[in-house]
Amino acid sequence: MSRITIIAAIANNNALGKDNDLIWHLPADLKRFKQVTSGHHILMGRNTFESIGKPLPNRTTVIITRNNNYKAAGCIVVDSIEKALEVSKNDEQIFIIGGAQIYKQAMSSNWVDQLDITQVHHSFEADVYFPEIDSEIWEEISREDFSADEKNQYKYSFIRYKKRKL
Ligand SMILES: NC(=O)c1ccc[n+]([C@@H]2O[C@H](COP(=O)([O-])OP(=O)(O)OC[C@H]3O[C@@H](n4cnc5c(N)ncnc54)[C@H](OP(=O)(O)O)[C@@H]3O)[C@@H](O)[C@H]2O)c1
Repeated sequence: MSRITIIAAIANNNALGKDNDLIWHLPADLKRFKQVTSGHHILMGRNTFESIGKPLPNRTTVIITRNNNYKAAGCIVVDSIEKALEVSKNDEQIFIIGGAQIYKQAMSSNWVDQLDITQVHHSFEADVYFPEIDSEIWEEISREDFSADEKNQYKYSFIRYKKRKL
């Protein structure tokens, strides 16, 4: 069985993005994203794929769209989240990398095991948001806190949550 992890960078007000792009530039988060997801399947909505603009190296890009004619070189295209999970099932670690529509559906499902969240300690004007993380469902199991520095403009934390056994 694969472990299914949502990976997201979320601001204090749950902001995720604006105008189909990220709002902040935090190289430390991008570095961690690359480190954590390399070698694995990354599942994303069509908007997020178009925001990134290309398949990411050393990962298998799975794009979810209802458009059955959608094509993207070097990527797997599927028309449901269930099919995205099905094509990824031989990977022991699957990542759901967004965006808001896909996170919302995944967070209300029962098949996500873990959340790898970069908390950006600032609030931003946004047009897409992450759902509330319910502490009755999700238990924080690790946290690393970082100060802003010359490269990273905001304080940030890497927080891992595991689903509580209810
Ligand atoms: N902060 C972060 O960590 C983070 C991570 C990722 C993305 N983002 C941001 O999030 C924003 C994009 O999010 P978004 O909510 O607009 O879009 P999205 O979730 O990336 O993609 C939405 C699209 O996915 C397809 N889709 C959604 N649910 C589906 C389903 N059940 N079955 C089949 N297809 C489905 C549809 O594509 P079709 O319209 O083609 O049918 C839909 O329009 C951007 O601003 C991006 O920068 C932030």
